[in-house]
Amino acid sequence: MRCPTPLPAFSVRFLLASLAATFIGCGGGDAPFPAGFYYGVATAGFQNDPGCPTVPDAECIDSHSDWYDFVTSKEIKNDPSTFVTGEPLQHAPGSYELFAEDFDLVKDQLGGNAVRLSLEWSRIFPTSTVGVEGYEALKNLADPKALAHYHAVFAALSQRHLLPLVTLHHYTLPSWIHDAVGCHKDVLHCKANGWLGKDVVPEIAKYAGFAAKEFGGQVDLWATLNEPFAVVIPGYIFPTADRTNPPSVSLVQDPTPDGQGHNRFLGITAALSMIDAHARMYDAIKHNDTVDAGTGTAARVGLVYNLTPATPRDPENPKDVQGARDLFYIYNEFFLNATIRGDLDANLNGQITHRDDLAGRMDYLGINYYTRAIVDGTSGPFLPQLSQRTRFNPLTLTLWTEYPQGLYDVVMFARSYGVPALITENGSSDQDHAAAPHYLVQHLTQLQRAITDGARVEGYFYWTLVDNYEWNHGMSMRFGLYQLEPDSKKTRTPREAVDIYRQVIAAGGLSADLLSRYPLPQ
Ligand code: FCB
Repeated sequence: MRCPTPLPAFSVRFLLASLAATFIGCGGGDAPFPAGFYYGVATAGFQNDPGCPTVPDAECIDSHSDWYDFVTSKEIKNDPSTFVTGEPLQHAPGSYELFAEDFDLVKDQLGGNAVRLSLEWSRIFPTSTVGVEGYEALKNLADPKALAHYHAVFAALSQRHLLPLVTLHHYTLPSWIHDAVGCHKDVLHCKANGWLGKDVVPEIAKYAGFAAKEFGGQVDLWATLNEPFAVVIPGYIFPTADRTNPPSVSLVQDPTPDGQGHNRFLGITAALSMIDAHARMYDAIKHNDTVDAGTGTAARVGLVYNLTPATPRDPENPKDVQGARDLFYIYNEFFLNATIRGDLDANLNGQITHRDDLAGRMDYLGINYYTRAIVDGTSGPFLPQLSQRTRFNPLTLTLWTEYPQGLYDVVMFARSYGVPALITENGSSDQDHAAAPHYLVQHLTQLQRAITDGARVEGYFYWTLVDNYEWNHGMSMRFGLYQLEPDSKKTRTPREAVDIYRQVIAAGGLSADLLSRYPLPQ
């Protein structure tokens, strides 16, 4: 067995953790991961924070975000087009209070060396930052309790030699920039119109720069946005029972034509804002990063993107093959071509504008992988006003099938962009077998195969540590390695996959025993 070439560690601060991983990584598994590989879990503030056992709701639950408004509004809950269960946020795992206990699980029970989590923009800036410039002025405006909380979170990670990967935008926007309820009711006239407005890009960049200065001494690895297309599609194109996102409106076109005479779908306006946001956040972080005096390590900045492989329903049918290609382009390539290469297809018509102000701003790509799409092709474009490249039926897509090979496929696709990758989310939610051992082993097997075939992958973050608040579904979809018991103490009970993940981490790879117990599906 060959021990793969070590990748550069992110910082000296985590050298010890890396060395430990190096040591175990070369000793164990029959299918080893690279030395210095990061093994972690992924979480998000809105989903994990609420539900504290003793900290009062007023502090534990951030009530200043669009998602808070969305899931607590009676009007939204009573409107079937939003698919919101409106489950009380108090049922969530309470990690705002229990973060140190959660990190102990990662360190002591799983043996991991990394945690992905998100800052909540609306916690830090519950009121508008428009017109406020400069670190000092922003610091005066920021909520001191929120800053102290995040400093304590990062200190707790550092004490345990756990690498923080910090997402700045995991779906939630402050209510002062996005009025979830008002925009759901009248998306063309609501004032605080989120990703459609002119303020969002400069203000999110300001927040990113502030976070880099404030927390840069404790954080080196940043993600700008989480899954932009999970905002664009369920927010503005097709909200479905699977996923909605505020404002949850369908196929609305902007009545004012753009410079080229198009009435763009609002979803595209939102996507273009998010493309700009990534680049401006990247610049703001690089410009403001506080380089840790002890380590001299500078920030690395990436984007977290959910990559969706597309399979033609009938591989012999040219229509399905074409439809799958179109879906793959729109769902995956459109956004990444712009954010990685600076090649923007703003009207989804193949006319590419190269933008230097977008290009070259991706230190790594965070890949979320859950499902492929099985695609039915159509004779002509399904939504010609959106793009000629919609020769597929978005209403008959088969999603959420377990398909481990898809992880191999998306990692190999990401490799073509020439940036290293981190698997920032992958996990299963089946009610009876949440965090199922076979899911974990089969996906890791495919990941290991991609690495052997030349992909540069620096780590894997399982979604998620403990059952948490799954957006419009509330607590009804459970993804946790640990089951959240419905008691006020928020007890976390390990599921079967905990032991499997622990074995993989301890061995630094997959053992022959695990590979034979959970072989790949034929
Ligand atoms: C991803 C999200 C994450 C969680 C998982 C199940 O799309 O990034 O917050 O909802 O799905």
